[in-house]
Amino acid sequence: MGNRLAGKVAAVTGSGRGIGRGYALALAAEGAAVVVNDAGVALDGSGSDQRPADQVVAEIKKAGGKAAANHANVTTMAGGESIVKTALDSFGRLDIMVNNAGILRDRMVFNMAEEDWDAVIAVHLKGHFSCTKAACTVFRQQRSGRIIGISSPAAMGNAGQTNYAGAKAGILGFIRAVARDMGRYGVTANAIIPLATTRMTANPEMEAARAARIARGEKVAPQPERRPEDVAPMLVYLCTDEAANVNGQILTAFTGMIGIYEQEVLMKTLRKKDNWTVDELARLVPKTLCEGFVNQWPPQAPKQ
Ligand SMILES: NC(=O)c1ccc[n+]([C@@H]2O[C@H](COP(=O)([O-])OP(=O)(O)OC[C@H]3O[C@@H](n4cnc5c(N)ncnc54)[C@H](O)[C@@H]3O)[C@@H](O)[C@H]2O)c1
Repeated sequence: MGNRLAGKVAAVTGSGRGIGRGYALALAAEGAAVVVNDAGVALDGSGSDQRPADQVVAEIKKAGGKAAANHANVTTMAGGESIVKTALDSFGRLDIMVNNAGILRDRMVFNMAEEDWDAVIAVHLKGHFSCTKAACTVFRQQRSGRIIGISSPAAMGNAGQTNYAGAKAGILGFIRAVARDMGRYGVTANAIIPLATTRMTANPEMEAARAARIARGEKVAPQPERRPEDVAPMLVYLCTDEAANVNGQILTAFTGMIGIYEQEVLMKTLRKKDNWTVDELARLVPKTLCEGFVNQWPPQAPKQ
């Protein structure tokens, strides 16, 4: 066990399973007391179960760490407030809020039901707001704190995931804005884009097809190993006092790989004193801003 987070208190939403469990164990291993929040829902957000959070609390305690369970649902403001209350009641303070809870309800946009849209936005995007707001009232008073948002490569766009992609892109804007609100109070807010094999990325059909190809003796490229606990070291680092200079950034981490994203920048600009007409744009844009663009969706056959 390390001691980089000795005396600090962390809360991790959705840490009863998957990548969040890895964050909770790693934060505890660096000396933080951890509130393990998990509503114990199914992948689509249905149901509830206290056992996942309770099991991770037991694991942390067994390893000699400090932990308390919280089973609130992050989709309500009361849920976010209850997570912070558990930290204050159990350990007397809060220093780190990790917004990790997540669900999936994939559909093509033309089949996306309103409730599938609302449910995914509620857990990911509103869940970030409910927990971050509650944490920031404490952080502002104590003039320190760490907020981590969890986004996804899907924020760049992923077929069948308009709800999830919208939420995960929203989280990037949210975190950048929180960094600007809270920086003056000694608080940092950064986003991590993780990758790991969990129930969220499991694809039984692809796995069965792969197994069948191997059984037929075909050569199949080995799958990269992406353990859920391997995202955690970067998250722990961002939560230390040593990372005070990293604020409003988007990082990625998975087994054996870390990286930082470029912030969105204008690629090219054209200026003119008065405003543009549509005729001018139709003439200029193909030769300037969008020169050589090929519509990639669906992918085009390579040129012979
Ligand atoms: N697995 C990946 O490769 C991957 C990639 C990019 C982003 N992510 C993100 O990482 C996070 C964790 O994903 P995972 O793969 O570990 O998933 P997971 O399903 O294994 O774990 C998510 C946990 O969140 C809990 N949860 C869901 N809704 C909740 C709610 N409303 N309140 C409280 N708890 C709730 C679930 O009960 C579950 O234990 C998610 O935000 C996900 O979108 C994962």
